[in-house]
Amino acid sequence: MSKPFVLAHLSDPHLGPLPPPAMRELVSKRLLGYINWQRGRRRVHHRDALDAVTHDLHGARPDHVAVTGDLVNIALPAEFVHARRWLETLGRPADVSVVPGNHDAYVAGAGVHRDLHWRPYMSGDGASAEPSAEGKPGGRPWETIPFPYVRRRGPVALVGVSTAVPTAAFMATGKLGEQQIAAVARMLDELRAEGLFRVILIHHPPVPAAGHKCLVDAVAFQRALAGAGAELIIHGHDHVHSLIMIGGKGARVPVIGVPSASASVSAKRRAGAYNLYLIGGRPGTWSCEVVSRGLRSSGAVAELDRYPLSWSEHA
Ligand SMILES: [Fe+2]
Ligand SMILES: [Fe+2]
Repeated sequence: MSKPFVLAHLSDPHLGPLPPPAMRELVSKRLLGYINWQRGRRRVHHRDALDAVTHDLHGARPDHVAVTGDLVNIALPAEFVHARRWLETLGRPADVSVVPGNHDAYVAGAGVHRDLHWRPYMSGDGASAEPSAEGKPGGRPWETIPFPYVRRRGPVALVGVSTAVPTAAFMATGKLGEQQIAAVARMLDELRAEGLFRVILIHHPPVPAAGHKCLVDAVAFQRALAGAGAELIIHGHDHVHSLIMIGGKGARVPVIGVPSASASVSAKRRAGAYNLYLIGGRPGTWSCEVVSRGLRSSGAVAELDRYPLSWSEHA
């Protein structure tokens, strides 16, 4: 058997500490987020935990790393610079793919800084790594990087989508939009014809739900998936290990979430972790073994779970 393609997946590092904000930067939603961070979140997200997780991840020597959003907290300009430096410790832009989360779009102006500092990690094959002077024609005004993007790596196609939209205070919802959903469906059809193992990177779980944290157009996205199919969807946002199956094209689609990579040991079952996806085979005979590794109570990173995926509609 040939060596599997190893995709590593981590999410929601919520990098700290927060740089000291200027008073003018604490207007609107940021003030609430800043208080929230100082009162609670900074005690959950630890750099030591994140460093232990990423050290272990490097030891696994993955072929590619996917980061599914919430790299920052209240979208201060300095947070995006800090996050870029952290991304560089993970790997080269060609080897690390990023999609943004709701915290990376905490306020309406955040997109400019995200675009400026993270673009090489969020660009499709052949796209310019340079920031654009203006938004994409027809694109969303706060977003200048075209989503979805696609990157082909060995037998795998990584399809990055953005659910990151600025929202009102106390809201953490995500939205893909009709344009993006239609583009993803077209892209998935093309990649299927190319015989690639299609992995969608998304921050919010694409599951219909109500409430302040949901993906508001999950129903439309699932409808598109039912027509186009995909081999795997990976996400963050919920900060827990999860696996559900949704309908695809003649096969089910596994949807897998991971905890925050920086959650401290005290978070117990939600402590910092990441997944490895060992992808082998070819169209019709794909295989994918999921290996979850994360912090134990001792502070060491170890294997937590290992299971094969099945796409069978009868499993
Ligand atoms: Fe998060
Ligand atoms: Fe989130």
